[in-house]
Amino acid sequence: MNPLRESLRLPHTPEPCTFVIFGASGDLTRRKLLPALYALAAEQRLPGGFSVVGAARSQWNDAQFRERMRAAIAEFSRIPFQSAVWEPFAASLFYLPVEYDDPLHHARLKEMVRTLATQKGTRGNSLFYLATPPSAFLPIIRRLGESWERGRPARPGAAETAALPGWARIIVEKPFGRDLASAHELDRLLQQVFGEEQVYRIDHYLGKETVQNILVFRFANGIFEPVWNRRYVDHVQITVAESIGVEERGAFYEESGALRDMVQNHLMQLLALVAMEPPAAFGAREVRQEKEKLLRAIRPMSCEQAARVAARGQYGPGAIAGAAVAGYRQEKGVAADSRTETFTALRLHIDNWRWAGVPFFLRSGKRLPRRVTEIAVRFRRPPLGLFPETPLDQLESNLFAFRIQPDEGISLRFEAKVPGQELHVRPVNMEFRYGTSFGAAAPEAYETLLLDAMRGDATHFAWSETVETCWALLEPLLEAWAAEAPADFPNYEAGTWGPPAADRLFEGAGCEAAGWRRP
Ligand code: BG6
Repeated sequence: MNPLRESLRLPHTPEPCTFVIFGASGDLTRRKLLPALYALAAEQRLPGGFSVVGAARSQWNDAQFRERMRAAIAEFSRIPFQSAVWEPFAASLFYLPVEYDDPLHHARLKEMVRTLATQKGTRGNSLFYLATPPSAFLPIIRRLGESWERGRPARPGAAETAALPGWARIIVEKPFGRDLASAHELDRLLQQVFGEEQVYRIDHYLGKETVQNILVFRFANGIFEPVWNRRYVDHVQITVAESIGVEERGAFYEESGALRDMVQNHLMQLLALVAMEPPAAFGAREVRQEKEKLLRAIRPMSCEQAARVAARGQYGPGAIAGAAVAGYRQEKGVAADSRTETFTALRLHIDNWRWAGVPFFLRSGKRLPRRVTEIAVRFRRPPLGLFPETPLDQLESNLFAFRIQPDEGISLRFEAKVPGQELHVRPVNMEFRYGTSFGAAAPEAYETLLLDAMRGDATHFAWSETVETCWALLEPLLEAWAAEAPADFPNYEAGTWGPPAADRLFEGAGCEAAGWRRP
């Protein structure tokens, strides 16, 4: 690597550590965590002495764990499987069957980590990952406090214990609670055992390159920020559309629904990044403070307003890309009369000086026509129509779109003169594509975030306040929806853009546009 081309910054390798995964026999470990760690190994980003201890209920041994992870990496890793990378990586994978609430099992696991500390020189540094079903979070955190004596550094003067030396950090997978009360309970226990600076609440959207680019785009350029406000912006639309259904996760999804699964975390984080004020510095505290400030400025809604500012939907049978697909109620693990929403749309208002009067529309759904995540910022039309052949109301407004995935990039729509003797005006797009400009494949979100946590950088993780602020904001909607059974489910066909109720959110919104984009 040429350090001059890399802006004189050499990658900063984390300190040696042991990565303990609770829930190591589950889907997340197989699809995301191990493939991400393997990619980091392939790119020589992992510290010397790094090792993984998988812990879960399945009665596997090291060899079985390695075998399964080898298959998972071959299937899911961004970087193709290579024996030369795999062999040394596999030698650092270990497994122990555990019951999550059993102190004896935790004692065994702790011994294993202690042995690795000596053998591999990790100094006892340990990074825990909660990849279990959420019901196991509380027991594991309690055991980490009691049996492991991990968590906060021992108080001065406290008796010498069998505690491991080195740092301890914990990554908590979503869902972080299922409402404000449960998120608060989880937070309270985490704060008893760990300090806030040791807790990493993961939201994998924050690890996506395109999402991280939002702040760079806004604050490393001089020309956009001056127009990023109520004077120029008409409204903002945030879309996270998926063409897949609930796949194998029907039973989990029945308990969750689109509002909890996508909006409370991923979409609210996108909203915060696109609308927050510039932070005083690019540090975890400063960035998270600004996001929190923005989220607190969102106008609260009451249960009674829920119908006017939100819409919910559930897909029925339909077709995606020409292939027939089942309705949600026909999916495995889903009740035949399920009331769970697979689509949510919301209209939010931010009551601050920058955004007063600018509506923000958010939507997310499964079995929509295609997979696309984008943030579209639509600007106001010019104040008067100068060109007689194109009246003002026929001018397309300027539109700025962050394309988060796929076809990662940014596009800007503006009007241009159609070549010819007449003066006709037509919208055109100016495009930036990551693939074309940078060539190199971007790392997966989990690669970036796992490396950040090993380095102790929490900038791209959610803060306790923020998680609770988002729950508090959506709580009236959760209550209103729980109280009133949806009469019209399923109300959109798989392969369409959601229920008609979502379009009604634009009525009386006070913006020029009257509907959702078809990105
Ligand atoms: C997860 C949700 O957090 O995000 C899933 O639980 C969803 O339901 C997934 O499919 C989408 O992530 P991505 O990165 O594919 O957009």
